[in-house]
Amino acid sequence: MEELMSKKGDLPDLRVNIGSLELANPVMTASGTFGYAREFENLMDLHRLGAVIVKGISLNPRAGNPPPRIVETACGMLNAIGLQNVGVERFISEKMKYLAGLNIPVIVNILGDSLAEYEEITDRLAGVPGVAGIEVNISCPNVKKGGVAFGTDPAMAAAVTAAVKSKADVPVMVKLSPNVSDITVIARAVEDAGADSLSLINTLIGMAIDLKTRRPVLANVIGGLSGPAIKPVALRMVYEVARVVSLPVIGIGGIESAEDALEFMMAGATAVQIGTANFVNPRASEEVIDGIREYAAAEKLPSIRSMIGCLHRS
Ligand SMILES: Cc1cc2nc3c(=O)[nH]c(=O)nc-3n(C[C@H](O)[C@H](O)[C@H](O)COP(=O)(O)O)c2cc1C
Repeated sequence: MEELMSKKGDLPDLRVNIGSLELANPVMTASGTFGYAREFENLMDLHRLGAVIVKGISLNPRAGNPPPRIVETACGMLNAIGLQNVGVERFISEKMKYLAGLNIPVIVNILGDSLAEYEEITDRLAGVPGVAGIEVNISCPNVKKGGVAFGTDPAMAAAVTAAVKSKADVPVMVKLSPNVSDITVIARAVEDAGADSLSLINTLIGMAIDLKTRRPVLANVIGGLSGPAIKPVALRMVYEVARVVSLPVIGIGGIESAEDALEFMMAGATAVQIGTANFVNPRASEEVIDGIREYAAAEKLPSIRSMIGCLHRS
């Protein structure tokens, strides 16, 4: 059956469009939870992904925070990796060739300390073969001098969006922070500044304490909470944002199964990203794709697009 379907062009039709970017299916891997994809090549079939989003890249390499940087929590985890990465030049020379060879859309997640850094990194990525899109991290809570101010202030969020848009030659997805009182205000500001799509949510700020040592578990004291614990918050935010913007919205937060992904699509997401679930089950994304296909077939949906925002409210 599976074979018959793929021969006939991936029926039911799982394709979705993020602006000008067409994905074979709505499932991507979330930044920072999937390395530079190669780390997963022996664990799953990378070619099946709707898109891959790589670990956040900064202008210069970053060593990240001192350990401990990760702690398990009830239904989730806290991380304070501190945006460790190889920097844009090494990313282009060492990682991009392999990624481009996968023949799936590669979206590069970027971060910066200043508008100039966001602009410069986008400029360096322009024209690099295989880069299909840029995801702008304006929301990471882990780095003291990092993007937190950008993601929590509408004017700054708009300024970063405009800066990246001024240099980008591919679609720009802006990744929103949940650590705000009204995420729709930021979403609107980013839309007005020219974003092509929005992804949400990044991690929620949290902490954990070790009773024995009477110290914070994370060396950085605070970290980002992710995993199933945050799913209801993420779903609510996707629902709120999708109702007030006309851009495609990508849902992220605690997605582990096709059912989770479909909930986000019903709430208004055009596509989803799988994050923490990759650590628990490296084949999670493939299983979500299979589950979505099975659901669409069982419901006799000619296209998965009909799920986007189909929520009944009464
Ligand atoms: C270990 C780890 C590293 C992450 N690194 C990044 C990053 O570099 N850039 C970014 O935008 N988000 C990063 N995130 C956030 C995830 O992409 C995602 O938004 C968040 O974890 C919520 O999704 P989840 O519950 O499915 O993990 C990271 C998350 C984790 C757990």
